[in-house]
Amino acid sequence: MDIEVRPIASEEYESFVRTTVAAFGGTYHPEELERERIEFEPGLSIAAFESRVPVGTAAGITFDLTVPGGFLPALAVTGVGVLPTHRSRGVLTALMRRQLDDAREAGTPLATLWSSEGPIYPRFGYGLASLHAALDVDTRHTAYSVPFTMRGRMRLLSEEEALKSFPDVYERVRDRQPGFLSRPAEWWSHRFFIPERQRQGYGDYFFALYEGDGPEGYVLYRTKHDWPDGLPGGTLDVEELVAATDQAYAALWRYCFDHDLMAKVTAELRPSFEPLLHLMQDPRRLRMRLADALWVRPVDVRTALEGRRYRSAGRLLLDVRDQFCRWNEGRFELEASGEGAFCRPTTSMPDLTLGATELGALYLGGTPAWALVRAGRISEERAGAAEEADSMFGWTPPPWCPHRF
Ligand SMILES: CC(C)(COP(=O)(O)OP(=O)(O)OC[C@H]1O[C@@H](n2cnc3c(N)ncnc32)[C@H](O)[C@@H]1OP(=O)(O)O)[C@@H](O)C(=O)NCCC(=O)NCCS
Repeated sequence: MDIEVRPIASEEYESFVRTTVAAFGGTYHPEELERERIEFEPGLSIAAFESRVPVGTAAGITFDLTVPGGFLPALAVTGVGVLPTHRSRGVLTALMRRQLDDAREAGTPLATLWSSEGPIYPRFGYGLASLHAALDVDTRHTAYSVPFTMRGRMRLLSEEEALKSFPDVYERVRDRQPGFLSRPAEWWSHRFFIPERQRQGYGDYFFALYEGDGPEGYVLYRTKHDWPDGLPGGTLDVEELVAATDQAYAALWRYCFDHDLMAKVTAELRPSFEPLLHLMQDPRRLRMRLADALWVRPVDVRTALEGRRYRSAGRLLLDVRDQFCRWNEGRFELEASGEGAFCRPTTSMPDLTLGATELGALYLGGTPAWALVRAGRISEERAGAAEEADSMFGWTPPPWCPHRF
C-alpha cells in the first residue's frame, strides 16, 4: 500500500471532512460543511492518500495558548481519523510524523489536543496536562457556605449583544488562565451554534451577563423542560461560565441554581479546581467527576521551557527522552528566576529523566512531578528533585480549557 501524506488542496476539503466523519463512524451533514471550515487552516489540514483517495486526516489550527505567565503559539490538533478499512497500518503514525515535522519547521513550540481515547497520543509525545470536571447538581442542595449578596446585576442578552460583551470577559480571564486559547471573532459565532442533532431536547442558548463595575462574567446555557407528575423537573445545562471576579463567579452560579422550574444544573468542561467545591455547603452534591482534558506536546523543548514563567526561582537538570521527535533529545539545564527562564544543553548529570510526554504533562503547571515519579513515569535521579520541580513548574491557577476542539 502506497500512502502519500500531504496538505489538502481547498477543493479536497469536502472529501477530507467526509473521511474524518467516516473514521468516527458518524453521519456526514453537508449543511455543516461551511461552518466546520473554521477548523480548516490552509496548509495545516493534512491527509493520507491512497491512490489519490483520502484514507486518513488530521487538521490543525494555530492559536495562542495561555501558559504560566504568558502566551505561546500552539498547534491545536483536531479532525484526526483513519478509515476503518485502513486501521493499524501506520496511517495515524504517518500523519503525526508530518504534522509535528511541519510544526517544528513553522517554529510552533507546542501542540495540543483533546483525545477521543486516552491511549492514542502518549506515544507521539502528548502528555496529560489538564483535567476537566463534570457536575450534576440537585438545585435543592445548593446553599453557599459563606454569606452571599448580589451586589451587581444579571442581564439576559441577545446573541448579538453577547458577541460584543462575552469576548471582553473571556480576554480578561485568558490573560492569566493557563489552558485558555485565543478566540478569533468568527470563532464566537461558531461557539454559539447548536447543530439540530445535538439539541437532545434542549432549547436555544441563553446568554446571561453579570455586571458589577462593567461586565465581569457570563454564562452560556440552555434548558430542557420536564414535568414528572406535573411537577417542575427541568435541567439547566451550563455550556460555558467564565468569571473575571469572585463576585461574578458566585453570582453566576447562584443565578443558575435559582432558575425557576429547574431541578438540576449540569455542566461539563469545568476546571478541576472548581471553587464551587468550597463555596457549596455540601460539596458532595456537585457529583463531580474528573476526566482528561488538554494533552500537550512540546514540539521544541527549549523554546517551550523558556516561553513560560516559573513559580519559584531554581535550577533543574533534565534528561529528556523523545523517540518520536529526536531533535528534542538531550540533557538540558533549566534556570528560572523572576526575570524569566533559560534552557541550555548540558553534559552534567541529570536531576530528572523524563520523556517529552511527561514534560508535556508538567508543562501547564497542573500535573505534579511527584505524581509522575510515583507512577513510574519520571525517574528522580537526585533525591528531592521532583519536589523542586513542583515548586518551579506548579502554577496558580492550574490549567483549564473550557472548550473542546
Ligand atoms: C485512532 C486512529 C486514528 C488510529 O489510527 P491508525 O492508523 O489505526 O493508527 P496506527 O496504525 O498509526 O497506530 C499507531 C499505534 O497506535 C495504536 N493505536 C491506534 N489506535 C489506538 C487506540 N484507539 N487505542 C490504543 N492504541 C491505539 C496502534 O496499536 C499502534 O501501536 P503499535 O505501533 O504499537 O502497534 C483510528 O483508529 C481512528 O480513526 N479511530 C476513530 C476516530 C478517532 O478516535 N480519532 C482520534 C480523535 S482524537
